[in-house]
Amino acid sequence: MIEIRGVQKHFGDLHVLKDIDLVVPRGQVVVILGPSGSGKSTLCRTINRLEPIDSGEIRIDGKVLPDEGRPLAALRADVGMVFQSFNLFPHRTIIENVTLAPMKVRKASADDARKRGMELLRRVGVDSQAEKSPAQLSGGQQQRVAIARALAMDPKVMLFDEPTSALDPEMVGEVLDVMVGLAREGMTMVVVTHEMGFARRAADRIVFMADGGVVEDTDPESFFTAPKSRRAKDFLGKILSH
Ligand SMILES: Nc1ncnc2c1ncn2[C@@H]1O[C@H](COP(=O)(O)OP(=O)(O)OP(=O)(O)O)[C@@H](O)[C@H]1O
Ligand SMILES: [Mg+2]
Repeated sequence: MIEIRGVQKHFGDLHVLKDIDLVVPRGQVVVILGPSGSGKSTLCRTINRLEPIDSGEIRIDGKVLPDEGRPLAALRADVGMVFQSFNLFPHRTIIENVTLAPMKVRKASADDARKRGMELLRRVGVDSQAEKSPAQLSGGQQQRVAIARALAMDPKVMLFDEPTSALDPEMVGEVLDVMVGLAREGMTMVVVTHEMGFARRAADRIVFMADGGVVEDTDPESFFTAPKSRRAKDFLGKILSH
């Protein structure tokens, strides 16, 4: 579903993605781990071309990422993304946040978009908040709305970049539960997270990055019990000791 081949990316002199190869089959859940600055967010952002790449190739469901224009917009609609900050439209209601893109990009009718939007809000447990504005919701609720909003486009792939890092601890679980549900339903997912519980519970595969490269690419059990590289051992030592 996602094919990343020989991808290179620089920010000025800084080589942030070093010859990345990563193929994610349909329905697979990949958790990307790695120290700060290793290129996890940049890699995520290249997958829907929020960041252009210097060389290499990225395909989604067999199609090469277009450079710009309408084809890019269409492809982006297939790739849902949820960030650390929920960035909901502040002056729109919750249900409007979920229905705007399907109406504009997918040309859904207002009725259909609303029906589907309410279904998705129910699924993430915030349907009773539909007519409120984002500021009236807790962080955990807002992040669940952000997930519903991405799902409203019927994406083929969902990217998550530290979706729970900005949340108060008691709200982390409710967002992770929604993500685990999605994973079980067979969504293709790439998830950058520091939540090791989620990684163990939901990941099919762990990709460990350091210094812009993929250092380990293995199943969660092997990664957590028998990391091979020095970098991964150090990383796990730090993460698991607090
Ligand atoms: N827009 C940018 N311009 C210049 N340098 C950037 C830009 N975005 C990221 N970088 C640099 O690229 C490197 C990789 O950043 P990236 O955000 O992908 O790391 P990360 O693994 O997501 O880190 P974190 O765990 O802190 O989120 C870092 O050294 C960062 O400073
Ligand atoms: Mg990041």
